Amino acid sequence: MTDLAKASSSLFLRSIRGESCERPPVWIMRQAGRYLAEYNAVKAKHSFLEICRTPELAVEVSLQPIRFLDVDAAIIFSDILIPATALGIQVDFAPGPVVLNPIRSAADIQALKVEDVTQKTKFVAQAISSLRTELDKLPGAPKALVGFAGAPWTMASYLIEQKPFKHFERTQILAREHPQALHLLLDQLTTITEEYLLSQVEAGADAVQLFDTWAGLLSLEDYQQFALPYTQRIFATMKRRGVPTLLYINGCSSLLPAMIQSGASVLSIDWRVSLSEACERIPIEIGIQGNLDPTALYGTSEEVRTQTKQMLTAAQGRARYIANLGHGILQTTPRENALTFVKTVQDGWP
Ligand code: CP3
Repeated sequence: MTDLAKASSSLFLRSIRGESCERPPVWIMRQAGRYLAEYNAVKAKHSFLEICRTPELAVEVSLQPIRFLDVDAAIIFSDILIPATALGIQVDFAPGPVVLNPIRSAADIQALKVEDVTQKTKFVAQAISSLRTELDKLPGAPKALVGFAGAPWTMASYLIEQKPFKHFERTQILAREHPQALHLLLDQLTTITEEYLLSQVEAGADAVQLFDTWAGLLSLEDYQQFALPYTQRIFATMKRRGVPTLLYINGCSSLLPAMIQSGASVLSIDWRVSLSEACERIPIEIGIQGNLDPTALYGTSEEVRTQTKQMLTAAQGRARYIANLGHGILQTTPRENALTFVKTVQDGWP
């Protein structure tokens, strides 16, 4: 089998295409990270940014959860703030992102210049291309490779707020006071994100996930005005290239009708949405990913198994269903419970 045919026969991509699968594919958001001792061993020697910027290290930590959990998809190890450097933004991690030169006014936005994104982020494409090679060497069922970026609204929120405050009010205030300026910033972020994601696809990503983590703070009307059009533009570009897309929003229940309009192949939902209700509301041509509460992984292994099976039951045998958590795995999660979650899905539909 050629490498391309191998990846396209992965359970993850088959499920997105709506082909009948023996069981749902499974992976975990933030599957590489601090709940794994082997990640902490790399972190003891290198900073987070160093890991992101050094392809060999990024590939190694991306592979760690594949070896331990044997999940069906790998996600490239990076961060949503990495491409912001193409706007001249400097970011540090402590461990959450801290923007050293935040955007605070309409004048700051007008002064931004978009630099060559592909050039500025070429270490990400290099890491994806080596990760693709490593994944294809693994024995057993083919693994999909997921690329990702932050959606323009969430990116803008970080750039404006400097440090994530609880409600990102500054961004919403800018939306009221200088909507044109905010639209200009969102437009530039969209252009950067399209180029960044296409560079990941060229390098070997099979699908791309857009994280609009903080869009759940918006009303439906504001989401439709400040987030949806930009997300739609990015997904339309991906669709023209035949690239499957996933959209994640934390706290998305009131936004589901708009997410359905986004053009995403798969909607990744959080645990506050009833999965069975989502299955009714989301058209069958659109996939669903999620949505176990990350804190469910703190129970006994029996409890983890029970909750995972309940999640699978709620998914009602839907062909386009990908098992995952409803947000990233938490740092102090007992790793054995992450494994129990994955294995329970791999045992098949209850
Ligand atoms: O999923 C994966 O395994 C790939 C890696 C990945 C990271 N960040 C690594 C990371 C992905 C997909 C992200 C995306 C990301 N980054 C999002 C969207 C997803 C989500 O969780 O909502 C957001 C909002 C960010 C911004 C960000 N970066 C935050 C809030 C933090 C702090 C998180 C924390 O738990 O303290 C980061 C830092 C970060 N990104 C870490 C990792 C492993 C921890 C840093 C470290 O190891 O020192």
